[in-house]
Amino acid sequence: MLHIVENPLIQVKLNIMRDERTNSKDFRTLLDEISSLMTLEVFKDLKVVPTGEKIITPTGVEIDKLKLNHSIIVVPILRAGIGMSNGVIDMLPTARIGHIGLYRDEKTLKPVEYFCKLPHVKDPLVLICDPMLATGGSACDAITMIKKRGYQNIRLLCLVGAPEGVKKVQETHKDVDIYLASLDERLNENGYILPGLGDAGDRIFGTL
Ligand code: PRP
Ligand code: URA
Repeated sequence: MLHIVENPLIQVKLNIMRDERTNSKDFRTLLDEISSLMTLEVFKDLKVVPTGEKIITPTGVEIDKLKLNHSIIVVPILRAGIGMSNGVIDMLPTARIGHIGLYRDEKTLKPVEYFCKLPHVKDPLVLICDPMLATGGSACDAITMIKKRGYQNIRLLCLVGAPEGVKKVQETHKDVDIYLASLDERLNENGYILPGLGDAGDRIFGTL
């Protein structure tokens, strides 16, 4: 299922990110903030359960200590996904973090895998983050890599998606919910999203 997180605060921040004049520092800050805001939406269906411990409030009342009913693993796709993961884990202080290294070959546009390290957690909910969902090749490979390591409950959080990438993920991994701040128009002949925001990794890390 595709979820477009339609929030005016997010849309205004994303609009600034799209501006080619926005520098790396502001780009990173805005991505961080949007990632935190989107995390609230991605996990709004989770349940809260008692841990079995009690806490006492300053007014002297004893209440249950609470926790989320799922353990969560956050998995940024390197490099650009790193620009989202801090904002996500700010909202999820108990989440564990994995990393998947993929880059898109500039000629073939096919993803090339170079790293995968995931924490061992029982029945977690895995959230993959990557700002850009273009052809969908990187996201599909990342999902396959995570499934091969035994995790099946997976969500995909991206900032901007192209219809081509959404279609590919939906066809290849029907069970994975996709969360976007914007579904853009299309890809150009070089596989860049239009209107998009350019090369997210380069803008985050200043490698233009
Ligand atoms: C970008 C982006 C995604 C991928 C999307 O990464 O962050 O991972 O491209 O394209 P796709 O949907 O067509 O696979 P890139 O390969 O540029 O690597 P980087 O994050 O290291 O810059
Ligand atoms: N990767 C990016 O960083 N931007 C795009 O528009 C497409 C792929």
